Amino acid sequence: MHAKTVDRQAGSSLAGRALNLLDFERRAGKVLPPALHHYVASYSEDGESHRRNLRSFRMRAFVPRVMVDVSQRSAATSLMGAHYPYPFGIAPMGFCRLVAADGDVVLARAAAKAGLPCILSGASLTPMEAVRTAGPTSWFQAYIPGEDDRIGALVDRVEAAGFDTLVITADTAVFGQHEVAARHGFRSPVTFGPAMAWQGLSHPRWLWQVLGRDGFAGTRLRFENADATPGPPVFSSTLVRDIGRRDALSWRHFEQVRRRWSGKLVVKGIMAPADAAIAQASGADGIIVSSHGGRQIDCAVSGLDALEAIAAKGLSLALMYDGGIRRGSDVLKAVRLGADFVFVGRPMLQAAAVAGEDGVAHALTLLAHEVSTTMGLLGVNTLAELKEISLERDQERPA
Ligand code: FNR
Repeated sequence: MHAKTVDRQAGSSLAGRALNLLDFERRAGKVLPPALHHYVASYSEDGESHRRNLRSFRMRAFVPRVMVDVSQRSAATSLMGAHYPYPFGIAPMGFCRLVAADGDVVLARAAAKAGLPCILSGASLTPMEAVRTAGPTSWFQAYIPGEDDRIGALVDRVEAAGFDTLVITADTAVFGQHEVAARHGFRSPVTFGPAMAWQGLSHPRWLWQVLGRDGFAGTRLRFENADATPGPPVFSSTLVRDIGRRDALSWRHFEQVRRRWSGKLVVKGIMAPADAAIAQASGADGIIVSSHGGRQIDCAVSGLDALEAIAAKGLSLALMYDGGIRRGSDVLKAVRLGADFVFVGRPMLQAAAVAGEDGVAHALTLLAHEVSTTMGLLGVNTLAELKEISLERDQERPA
């Protein structure tokens, strides 16, 4: 991925017409059944945390420098011992295989070809072994239940599959309330009634590519990676999804994982500086500051404010961020506030829905291009030089 020379119209015609990441959301709304489109694009409750994430980027602005030779600029970076050409990757997302044909594989493969990490979700529908083979830069994200006997076997499976980085999501003690998605017919497991059947029939491309191929293999999808062995089916009108005793999860379980897992270990969903310090004391190699894209708690401060507060603690672990990143300038704002690396969620899955692997590759290239352009316009050659650039914050206007 050579962003400086990239043709922003490149890729398949569907992908190529997207000029920025936001274009993928508009296009995904046309190709996906409403239940799935809103499952991806929406948030919990009233969308306050999500909007706060988006707004926190708009509220911050750089003071650019000029007349600096930026012809050799590079956004390359190191994170927990690995080298990446850009400081961003793809966040873990459940149900990708139901949203886009071969969704988990497509995301992992496009990221690997770009030399970037993609985190496979613990709520994914493709066996983790196949995804890691297709995308050797993939990390694995686990939803571990607070049950000692279920943890060890899952950790062993992740290690046997070849993953070197394990992410434990910590902000899902209970499920957030997804009213928008539910109103459009989304529930998990997915129930197939007349309304859902009509949504499928009126989106024939999705129906054929995602469910229809290989003798309607899509209708037999399972939660493959929640445990050491494959879990329940995705389509069922009677099943209740067993997520184990996630509400009993505590740092004691995290320490149990740390003792068993010799690879890099990351906690995702940290918002409080105190929790960041506990993560470090408990043996984490990194944390992802995240409010789950506003899909869990809906009354949280913005992730960017949380990042700033956590960075001020000066911890030694890797500091990562996700939530609301839509532009290369957003990537750089998070880095300027202390992030070593960031992850992007919704737009990448929407790109996969619109144009498969080409779409994801194009989305990654667009973001890389914007990072490079903004660095050039800010007058910096490396991410480290961003420290010299002032980032100012607008005053919040009363509503
Ligand atoms: C998610 N997210 C998520 N996080 C996680 O740890 N495990 C998961 O299975 C999922 N599933 C999931 C599904 C979908 C459709 C979305 C959009 C998000 C949250 C995700 O990893 C990340 O925190 C946010 O998506 C980041 O915000 P943006 O970039 O989408 O604004």
